[in-house]
Amino acid sequence: MMISDYIGLKCVSCGENSSQDHFQYTCESCGENLDVIYDYSSINNNWSKDELRDNTNRSIWRFLPLLPVKEKPENTSIQIGGTPLVESNQLAKELGVKNIWLKDDTRNPSGSLKDRATEVGIRHAKELGYKTMVAASTGNAAASLACLSAVHKMEAIIFAPSSAPPAKLTQILQYGAKLFPVDGSYDDAFDLAADVVKETAWYSRSTGINPILSEGKKTVALEIAEQLNWEMPDQVFVPVGDGCIIGGVYKGFYDLFQLGWIDKIPKIIAVQAEGSSAIVDALGTGKISPVKAETIADSISVDLPRDGLKALRAVTDSGGYGQKVTDDKMLDAQHILAKSTGLFAEPAAATGFAGLIQAAKNGKISSDETAVVLVTGTGLKDINSAQQLVKIPNSISPDLTSFKDRWNQNNG
Ligand SMILES: Cc1ncc(COP(=O)(O)O)c(C=O)c1O
Ligand SMILES: [Zn+2]
Repeated sequence: MMISDYIGLKCVSCGENSSQDHFQYTCESCGENLDVIYDYSSINNNWSKDELRDNTNRSIWRFLPLLPVKEKPENTSIQIGGTPLVESNQLAKELGVKNIWLKDDTRNPSGSLKDRATEVGIRHAKELGYKTMVAASTGNAAASLACLSAVHKMEAIIFAPSSAPPAKLTQILQYGAKLFPVDGSYDDAFDLAADVVKETAWYSRSTGINPILSEGKKTVALEIAEQLNWEMPDQVFVPVGDGCIIGGVYKGFYDLFQLGWIDKIPKIIAVQAEGSSAIVDALGTGKISPVKAETIADSISVDLPRDGLKALRAVTDSGGYGQKVTDDKMLDAQHILAKSTGLFAEPAAATGFAGLIQAAKNGKISSDETAVVLVTGTGLKDINSAQQLVKIPNSISPDLTSFKDRWNQNNG
């Protein structure tokens, strides 16, 4: 398999180019975020759909020519990506949509889509000679960094709000990372991590500014395209916090479109919690303004999205739209998803599906259109939210009479 044709970085705002030999997180001229750019004609000369089809590596590294690492990564025991795309005829029928596919990224090693970004970020950091990684995170990116740092023998330093679900904080510690719970919001943790990176020679895995991370996240779009045999769906629903995942989804489809491997970029729908909707609001006003985020979906509870420009570009350049959902609708969507498909998602991870339900209700998706929904992380990490709608019943005595009494009570 060929090596990446990653040729440099380009600012999403002012368009300034910079070389990969002089890696920086943000634009030196204007401070905005960067895109990774590739030589598409060289990639097409050396790689093909047929070669990809015959590649037995199911992880994200099957897309190596479109990833920003210089060397073929060594094999590890753990697989990132290669997650199932589950079709649900039942949900399509119920919502009056032609087809629905659910991209099950609960299946990544640490339980969320974030592993895609971490894997590429760590490989990149290693190539540059770093030994220590830093992340500010609402929880999942941190758990992911802790997990994959254990695999790749890197040191992980984590800043997360002390209010993050205990399961996520516990997971971080189990993987052996150094955890600094922060008295404050995710935004406070983000700023602290940025200060720490400035003072140290550590690599920043903070979502939202490091362009290498969007490249990892874009592999979810590359997989969707391949799994659908390069036939694009009409709409793709993505839960949005900082905007890094949705920016990556767009970049994945964009790369494939540039290669001529797909004939259109699907509409990308940004779904946000009503109480944390800076991106969806900006689609109306054209300006990203911070909000005071409040939602049960901790992973997408963000005051000021750090990858805002890429998120807005994903929606506008794909002809998509923004969709807000209430916390109640999110919890409903979580339960419907679990009952109908067996996918147990945390509230943030069910937000894309809540967006689809809302869009179907409002006529924003029609009966002859197809939808892909990103399911971005497992529900097992946040049992408290999951228990808002389902309560564990009182226990019964271990005898048939007690069982029959309870059965009759429930079904009477
Ligand atoms: C499960 C889950 N879904 C969605 C998101 C939103 O991703 P982003 O912040 O890149 O918009 C996150 C981010 O933490 C997440 O953990
Ligand atoms: Zn710039």
